[in-house]
Amino acid sequence: MTRSPASFLPAPEQAAALTERSLSPLAQGMEDSQIRAVASQVWALQAQGVEVCNLTIGDFVPAQFPVPKAFMERMVREAQAGQTNYTPSDGIPELKKAIADQYQRELGIDFGPESVVVGAGARPLMWATYLAFLKPGDGFAYGVPSWNTQYYDYLFQCRGLVMVGRPEARFLPTVEQVERVLPQARILALNSPLNPTGTAYRAEELEPVCQALLAENKRRERDGRPPCMLMYDQVYWTLTGPGVAHSHPLALVPELAPYTVYLDAISKSLAATGLRVGWAVVPPHLQGAFKSVIGHMGGFAPRPEQRAAAWYLAQPEQVAADRAVMNAGVRSRLGLLVETIEGMRDEGLPVDLIRPEGGIYLSVRFDLHGRRTASGQKLDTNDDIRLFLLHEAGLAVVPFQAFGLEGDTGWFRISVGAAEPAKVIAGLERLRTALRGM
Ligand SMILES: Cc1ncc(COP(=O)(O)O)c(C=O)c1O
Repeated sequence: MTRSPASFLPAPEQAAALTERSLSPLAQGMEDSQIRAVASQVWALQAQGVEVCNLTIGDFVPAQFPVPKAFMERMVREAQAGQTNYTPSDGIPELKKAIADQYQRELGIDFGPESVVVGAGARPLMWATYLAFLKPGDGFAYGVPSWNTQYYDYLFQCRGLVMVGRPEARFLPTVEQVERVLPQARILALNSPLNPTGTAYRAEELEPVCQALLAENKRRERDGRPPCMLMYDQVYWTLTGPGVAHSHPLALVPELAPYTVYLDAISKSLAATGLRVGWAVVPPHLQGAFKSVIGHMGGFAPRPEQRAAAWYLAQPEQVAADRAVMNAGVRSRLGLLVETIEGMRDEGLPVDLIRPEGGIYLSVRFDLHGRRTASGQKLDTNDDIRLFLLHEAGLAVVPFQAFGLEGDTGWFRISVGAAEPAKVIAGLERLRTALRGM
């Protein structure tokens, strides 16, 4: 008689106790992303046939935002031609060179291919950065709202030095906030354009932050203390809005080179989140640690994608043409939202927004706390508001709490990566009706 392993698994009523006894304390305390939880509620409603305009996911629907054709075709050809083995753990030399050349060409920074470490998207490089510099209890400075940083704060058992964003500063950490936390920080994590807000640092805002970091590190150098590293996540840098120039630290304060790690990826710039190519630009004296982390975690990018990216990024005209199409698609959807929501605000409805500067996001405030819905339900929390918008207007958005900003501020993220213009128009119409009916 064959004995089925499945028959030895715990019954549902015993599973919770065994889970608790089995998992490490760290794993027991881990939380799944709240953004995913919100998104799965939307998918469940859609599966029941309910019309929902889904503005929750920080990803791209290929029907709206396809991966550039030239890149895709090249990737398939590379795979078919047998380019299917391991790559060096820090990436193939051709890709490292193409990235360094692109940064030189477009951002004016000249660090050379030896500073690039490639991985399977930006995330493994983010892990490598944390592993390279942080030990439990170290100060980790980051702003909220921001994408997933609160989870990393937990996973690396750091002492989070949280800078609470304010709408007046477009939710970006200000120099005053940074100066307050810097003396205790081992890493300062900044992201621009910022997910979830769609706002981006201007040079005059970022430069003082960089100067403060440089001054702090000079003091530490004199005392022989470990520097504070800047992790600058610029995965949305190619998606800045019209009239907005991407600001990045090394153009503003080149002396920060020994202390700066840039994160980037094709995930957002090529709408290729599932193809998994990202990179970090890391000073060469720190490369060894990054390569080891990527190698040991097996976090390298697939070879066909790396080969295709190396070829693609070295075609500036193709890159520019594809980017123009993608940016026009993002801007037209954001423009539609901005215009309609501003119209509602001007009509006296309780909504507000911060004009988008980059990325695929828009910060919107639904000032509905304490109000009653048409059916008499009182809205007390952001989650009440989210559910009201979902069920009464068929509009799905994510509260800033999912990005670590505590409190029922009324601020939400709208993402246009999956937004079909006709569905956005219909969703906004339902929103207007729902708000007018309150
Ligand atoms: C700001 C930011 N950084 C990094 C990532 C992760 O990028 P990747 O998918 O390349 O790991 C995301 C994904 O949403 C993001 O929004």
